[in-house]
Amino acid sequence: MDGVQNVPRAGIIELVFGEPDPALLPVTEIRRACATALDGGRTAALPYGANEGPPELRRLIAARIAATEDRKVPEGEIAITGGNSLAFDQVLTRFTTPGDTVLVELPTYILALGIVRDHHVDLEAVPVDDDGLDVVVLERILDALALAGRRARLLYTIPTFQNPTGTCLSAARRRRLVELAAAHDLLIVEDDVYRELVYDGVAPPSLWSIAPVATVLRLGSFAKTIAPGLRVGWLNGSATQVEHFAAAGFVDSGGCPSHFSASVVACYLEGGGYPARVERLRSEYRARRDALAAALTEHLPPGSSFVVPGGGFFIWVTLPEGLTASALLPVAERHGVSFVPAAQAMLNGDDGALRLAFSMYPPAQLAEGAKRLGAALGSFSAGR
Ligand SMILES: Cc1ncc(COP(=O)(O)O)c(C=O)c1O
Repeated sequence: MDGVQNVPRAGIIELVFGEPDPALLPVTEIRRACATALDGGRTAALPYGANEGPPELRRLIAARIAATEDRKVPEGEIAITGGNSLAFDQVLTRFTTPGDTVLVELPTYILALGIVRDHHVDLEAVPVDDDGLDVVVLERILDALALAGRRARLLYTIPTFQNPTGTCLSAARRRRLVELAAAHDLLIVEDDVYRELVYDGVAPPSLWSIAPVATVLRLGSFAKTIAPGLRVGWLNGSATQVEHFAAAGFVDSGGCPSHFSASVVACYLEGGGYPARVERLRSEYRARRDALAAALTEHLPPGSSFVVPGGGFFIWVTLPEGLTASALLPVAERHGVSFVPAAQAMLNGDDGALRLAFSMYPPAQLAEGAKRLGAALGSFSAGR
């Protein structure tokens, strides 16, 4: 496939890529939605788009949130974005100034670190454990900053099916986090890209839905549930924050950054097939998660551990004491399997874990990938 970002190498099961399996992309439905957008859609798809995005799509997203999160959202509290990556960049431009302190949980989504670094802010880390972001450490950091006459401007977090660890922030920590943010005038950016991909029960309420108004900007995306190449997502915040976000210079100049795709997504959602698609994806990815987890249980050596995630795309494997994932990687690739070493998702070099994505391959290949990883670990340990 030409022109795509991530191309699997021959002979390697790439458990690196956290993106939808191309075989699951809705080509026929999007072709139909494009035709509707151009011919019969209510939203004009080809002129410059309204800064906040097509009203039809904002209404359809509000309806989906009402149906799945039991929350009424006025249209003014939704802006259509060009996906979570661009939205996060735009939030940093609009809501921080170079030199501000920005907090990130660690480990975090590796490519979000690059987005933050583009903004010349001071990065500080807050650790994540099996219950998500550690709010006790966060409180300590916020207090220490206050004592020094400083404050953190913004916190970037993925509380639901986190990338890379798969963890979900516990209910008690969710409540404490929004309390702390409100008390310290800290703006939370909640990256909620995996909310719809829940495999056991229901996803916990978003931070945005439980926080005082204007405390949280929630970023949602259709990258994982429809197609990443469309570059369409949305932001939820207060009406004032949404207005400020959508008044970015480049949006004022070019209109909504994903206007054509957003119009196509509106037509697709209007067609009514989205809820059934999400259900199908849940059952596909649940089977993949289960296949990988079962094969890891069979093939990983004693001393390794992992927690089966309730949603999202990733299993985070903690390696036996003393092993480092970056050193293991070339050995694993010689065995025909690849992964993301922990160090890439950290700022402090910690490298005792690795991230496996189960979204790109069917169950049999995932099981083979786990077997290869087990063999690589065996030969790596033997050669030390
Ligand atoms: C946590 C997280 N945020 C954002 C993205 C990218 O989202 P988008 O395609 O909407 O920019 C990803 C994709 O891997 C992700 O895992």
